[in-house]
Amino acid sequence: MIPIARPQMGEDEKQRVWEAMASGSLAQGPRVAELEERFAEFIGVGHAVATSSGTTALHLALLGYGVGEGDEVITVPFTFIASANSVLYTGARPVFVDVDERDFTMAVDQVGAAITPRTKAIMPVSLYGQPADLVAIDEIAARHGLAVVEDAAQAHGAAIGERKSGSWGAGTFSFYPTKNMTTGEGGMITTDDAGLAGRVRLLREHGMKVRYHHDVVGYNFRMTDLAAAIGLAQLPKLPGFNDRRRTIAGRYDAELRGVITPVVRAGVWHVYHQYTIRVHDRDAFAERLKERGVGSAIYYPIPVHRQKPFVALGYGDQRHPVTDRLTHQVLSIPVHPSLSDDEVATVIGAVNETAAELGPLEAATVG
Ligand SMILES: Cc1ncc(COP(=O)(O)O)c(C=O)c1O
Repeated sequence: MIPIARPQMGEDEKQRVWEAMASGSLAQGPRVAELEERFAEFIGVGHAVATSSGTTALHLALLGYGVGEGDEVITVPFTFIASANSVLYTGARPVFVDVDERDFTMAVDQVGAAITPRTKAIMPVSLYGQPADLVAIDEIAARHGLAVVEDAAQAHGAAIGERKSGSWGAGTFSFYPTKNMTTGEGGMITTDDAGLAGRVRLLREHGMKVRYHHDVVGYNFRMTDLAAAIGLAQLPKLPGFNDRRRTIAGRYDAELRGVITPVVRAGVWHVYHQYTIRVHDRDAFAERLKERGVGSAIYYPIPVHRQKPFVALGYGDQRHPVTDRLTHQVLSIPVHPSLSDDEVATVIGAVNETAAELGPLEAATVG
C-alpha cells in the first residue's frame, strides 16, 4: 500500500537527537533557540517562538494579541478542529465564514460582513499548503484594527510572490510527523512584531522571565531540545522536500483524468502538504484506491461547525454551503517527497481507472 504520508527520518536526524541526548539538554535549550533563529530566517521574519505543538502555537498567538472572553475571531469551518478550538481556549468565540470553492481557503468577500465590535482577530487557514489570500485579509484587518493569525500549520515554505506564509501578523506552524517538516510533535509562531514575540515567550514559560518570578499566569507550551534536534536536521531539507512535492503535483495536474484537481491562484507558491482532488462518490473512490494499493485520506469529513462540541455550542444550524459540499467531495492522495516515480505512476493509474469506473462529478454538484 502506498501510504498517504511517510515521515523522512535519516542519519542527520539520528545523529542530532543522539547529540542532544548525550548533551543532557533534554528540555528547552540551545537547540530550540537555534531552530527558532533558523526558522525565522527561513520565513523572513524577525522572530520565531517554538512551541510544543501547532495547537499551542495558535493558542499562544491569540493570547499574545490579547484575545479573550467576549471577543470574536473570524475563521473557517473547513479546517482541522485545532484552528477553532484554539479560539475557544482563550474564552473567545470563533465566527465562521465559508471557504472559496476554488482554493479551499477563507472566502475573503465574506469577511467584512462577519466583523462586529467584538471582533479581535482574523484567522485564515492556509489549507493543504496553499496560502490563504493574506494580502486581501491583511488589508481588511488593517482597516478595522484587527490582528491576523495565519494558521500555517500545513504551509511551511508556501508563499505569495516572494513573501512566505507566516510573515503576515502572526503565523503558526505545526511540526506533526505528517507535515512538510517535522519535530515529532512541535510548533512555531513567526512574526515581525517584537512585542508579540515577547508576550508569547513569556506565556510559553509560566509567565516567567526570571526563574520562579511569575509576571502573569502562563503555560508550559515549550518544545524540547530533542524535538528541536529533529527540526534542525529537517529544516535544511525542507526546500528539497517541497520541490519534490511540487514535481509530483505537476505530474498529477497533467495526468489525472475525470477528477477535479487543485486550483492554484496566480502568483502563489503552493507546497502541497496535501494534493486534494474532488471526486464523485468519494467514499467508494477511496475504497477502490485502497483495492488498487493506494492510500488516501479525507481532510476533513466533518466541518468544524458540525463537530459535536460545536453543535453543543449552538453552531450546528449554521450553513456554510461550500464547506458542506467539499466535505463530501475531497480526497487527498499521496504526494509526500519519498514517493518514487513508479509509485506516482501507480497513483495516477489508480485514480484514472477509478474515475473512469465511478464517473465524473456532476456539474451541478461542483458549484
Ligand atoms: C490546519 C491545522 N491547524 C492546526 C493544526 C494543529 O497542529 P498540531 O497537531 O501540531 O497541534 C494542524 C495539524 O494537524 C492543522 O493541520
